[in-house]
Amino acid sequence: MLLRPHRTRARRTTSGDSGTERETPTAEPQLSRRRSPRRSRWLDRYGWYEPRSEGAWSTTRQAEAWNLATSRRRVRQDGVLAGLNTISGELEIVDAFAAYGAETSGINVCVIGDIGRGKSSWIKTVCVLRQLVAGRQVVVLDKKPQAGRGEYTPLAQALGAESIRFRTGGSGARLNLLDPAISAGGERRGGIDGVVPAGQEALVLAVLTDAMARDLDEKEKAAVGAGLTLVNAEARAQGRDPVIRELAMRLLDPHPDDGCGFGQRWNERALEWGLEPGLALLRLADRDLRGLVDEPTSPAVRDALETHPLVHMDLSALPTDGPALRVVMTTANTWLANKLAARSAVHEQTILVVEEGWHVAVGSTGEVFRSNSKLSRGLALSTISAFHHPADTPLDSPARALMGEASIVVMFGQARADDAAETVRMYRLPTGTEDTLMRLGRGQALVKIGSRDPILVTHIRSPFEAALTDTDAAITGEAGALSISDLARTSLETGEAQ
Ligand SMILES: Nc1ncnc2c1ncn2[C@@H]1O[C@H](COP(=O)(O)OP(=O)(O)O)[C@@H](O)[C@H]1O
Ligand SMILES: [Mg+2]
Repeated sequence: MLLRPHRTRARRTTSGDSGTERETPTAEPQLSRRRSPRRSRWLDRYGWYEPRSEGAWSTTRQAEAWNLATSRRRVRQDGVLAGLNTISGELEIVDAFAAYGAETSGINVCVIGDIGRGKSSWIKTVCVLRQLVAGRQVVVLDKKPQAGRGEYTPLAQALGAESIRFRTGGSGARLNLLDPAISAGGERRGGIDGVVPAGQEALVLAVLTDAMARDLDEKEKAAVGAGLTLVNAEARAQGRDPVIRELAMRLLDPHPDDGCGFGQRWNERALEWGLEPGLALLRLADRDLRGLVDEPTSPAVRDALETHPLVHMDLSALPTDGPALRVVMTTANTWLANKLAARSAVHEQTILVVEEGWHVAVGSTGEVFRSNSKLSRGLALSTISAFHHPADTPLDSPARALMGEASIVVMFGQARADDAAETVRMYRLPTGTEDTLMRLGRGQALVKIGSRDPILVTHIRSPFEAALTDTDAAITGEAGALSISDLARTSLETGEAQ
């Protein structure tokens, strides 16, 4: 484009008091377009004006003007959908099993965010319902009470899965801490080399460490290990399952030759070594853990994985203070890891959902839980854990390690600046992400898959899913108006998503 004086034009001015107008000639710059070149018929015939297939050199400064789009279309098509990419408007797949290999090196998922931001809704839809449709099996350790039951109860009912309810005192389901399905000493059980979940001994020692609020010394560990071997052997010989009360009594009242394994010199004195662990175990069996992990595993639990792809363990009736919840969760996790490890080479993809992750990821039992989840790839077991207020979690806690080791992180809104800052630090997110985290609306999440930059996703639910995941019912008083069959029918009739 050229800028040059084009023509001289007269400008009108009004002269002072006379009010008469006179013409003043001025030179005004005008824009003129260069005439478009004429196409030569001959050159046209030989394709001179067609786009060139080979590239042409340019400079960064020139190319900048093209303002290239910054988002690119994802190439992967497999896996379950989570929602819409808020920036590009494309559908986003968030699936730990599908992302493994190409995008991540692990399959554990961590969901972080304040209460009421949509964490549970995401987990129930993306990590449970849609995963079941994709042929995976799901085990839920459900802690949060809602209308007197675990919050996953409507979901289990809708899918026809039995809710296995645990209660202190003996009237609920039981999961034996010394279940024969859990290997005695952590020895290898089929599966893949090097994939060895915690065994009974590690589990009992972790429970004792938490209960006694101190580490066990070598003598105590030796006594517990020896007692466990004896109790296991005796129960096997009698064709029944050992229980922790037996172990407690064996430590408190050992047989005269129980110390033989420690040699002539310590034979007698070794009988004393199990006193304190024995007392602690007896207290747990008689009080905190009574009717939970101190009896043979109930058939509903034992056969759970075989009867329905969804296993709902309702722990909402267990007290949050005290060891019961932690111990049951860790025992369930260890039992599941052992069951999966014992399976033949054909591994079924399994998801373990543990919302309220901080209940389980503390102390020694938390360490057991964490080391089991490290075996995820070998067991094809993806652990989904949810947390809020990461800034309140001590840096050296197993909870923090679980959060940090997740391959996929789903970050919902966080109102507190320290939580947002801690999340950014933990996952090395781009600076400025704190603001984004603090401004996310309900159902919106930043999702980080492997080392990719986080994407902003708006979680989309079908009406059926929305009705099943609505946790506001108790507050708004709209609970119970629809039965599960109503919900299913509504979703089939409307078929729209929200
Ligand atoms: N994607 C969404 N769109 C609209 N509302 C949502 C969405 N996800 C969740 N909600 C609503 O927000 C409320 C809280 O969700 P919930 O998943 O229980 O939160 P959290 O587990 O973080 O406490 C629920 O009543 C749910 O219906
Ligand atoms: Mg929740």
